Amino acid sequence: MKNLLDNIDEVLLMGPGPSCVPDEVYRALSCKTLGHMDYYFIRIMDEIKDLLQKLMETQNSLTLAVSGTGSAGMETCFVNLIERGDRVLILINGVFGKRMADVADRLGAQVDTLEFEWGTPVVPDQVAKKLSGKSYKIVAVVHAETSTGVRNPVEEISRLVKDSEAFYLVDCVTSLGGIPVEADRWGVDALYSGTQKCLSCPPGLSPATFSKRTVELIKNRKSKVPNWYLDMSMIIQYWEGKKRAYHHTAPINMLYGLYQALLLIFDEGIDRVHQRHLDAHQRLVEGLEELGMEMLVQPEYRLPMLNAVKVPEGVDEAKARNQFRKEHFIEIGGGLGPLAGKIWRIGLMGHTAREENVERLLSALKKILKR
Ligand SMILES: Cc1ncc(COP(=O)(O)O)c(C=O)c1O
Repeated sequence: MKNLLDNIDEVLLMGPGPSCVPDEVYRALSCKTLGHMDYYFIRIMDEIKDLLQKLMETQNSLTLAVSGTGSAGMETCFVNLIERGDRVLILINGVFGKRMADVADRLGAQVDTLEFEWGTPVVPDQVAKKLSGKSYKIVAVVHAETSTGVRNPVEEISRLVKDSEAFYLVDCVTSLGGIPVEADRWGVDALYSGTQKCLSCPPGLSPATFSKRTVELIKNRKSKVPNWYLDMSMIIQYWEGKKRAYHHTAPINMLYGLYQALLLIFDEGIDRVHQRHLDAHQRLVEGLEELGMEMLVQPEYRLPMLNAVKVPEGVDEAKARNQFRKEHFIEIGGGLGPLAGKIWRIGLMGHTAREENVERLLSALKKILKR
């Protein structure tokens, strides 16, 4: 039988995720599969928890990797925290804020939204005004809006949420591992991420953490969590305690991959990893501006790992992206929603965030624009 896997191109992944996966992580993925209740595997799970706590800067005991991609993490947070009729405020300035509102709405929450122009950040003053008019059980925001390249001011927003007593839910899918995430200092109650962005592991897991008061809230719910697979009150028994109880079969080899990816981050040093993202970003912006191109986002709100650049007038956006992939073996992303056809999204996530990759992209871009 012909095997398509024999002919996979080696593509430099510079889109909005997945990012390039280091060889060490590929090797980890191919380690021998253990049983999900095996004592040695439980040791690996405990180590993952410990490393995630460090990376998320949290003491939260309920810190784990949810089975499934970032959207599973999002769903897990909302489905465990929300009960029908709860009032939820979602701050939206891109695709993933919108997705949060959809998820909360499907759970029967009363969803209020505050929307901001795509490419601009959430404005804390407007959040304060909204919070002074109504009380909410949950306030949710995306830290790094991958659809636009905006870094939202999650720390400023956290102060407002603290005063309001609401639970603070933050999407760190694209930020974790690329810029600091300080869950405890920001008083975050529920946070989820994804493996395929700055952690440089293939997609498939969603690291997540829940504060003590969130665990209490989940334990004292009036109604059962309406989704069996993501019910934290059961999953906690697999990830915590001396005796573990089976809930669902853990994606064993994916967890090996995440473990290795986390070890690589801590071996390099988390500050150095963040700096590497910044350095690559600065070189990219410099190179794009030398070519006369314009960034979508104001400098103070730019994400180092997701660079939204306006497509120059007269350039066929999709055709150029195709040339990147087919002729230069580089993947970049296009715009979504109102930004479709107008921007490219260039990812510098995790292992991809290196100056040599930036130079390769810039040199390909020059050739493509010349045509
Ligand atoms: C900020 C953000 N949140 C959530 C998601 C959803 O994650 P996934 O596509 O892994 O389900 C993404 C994916 O790109 C994202 O960038």
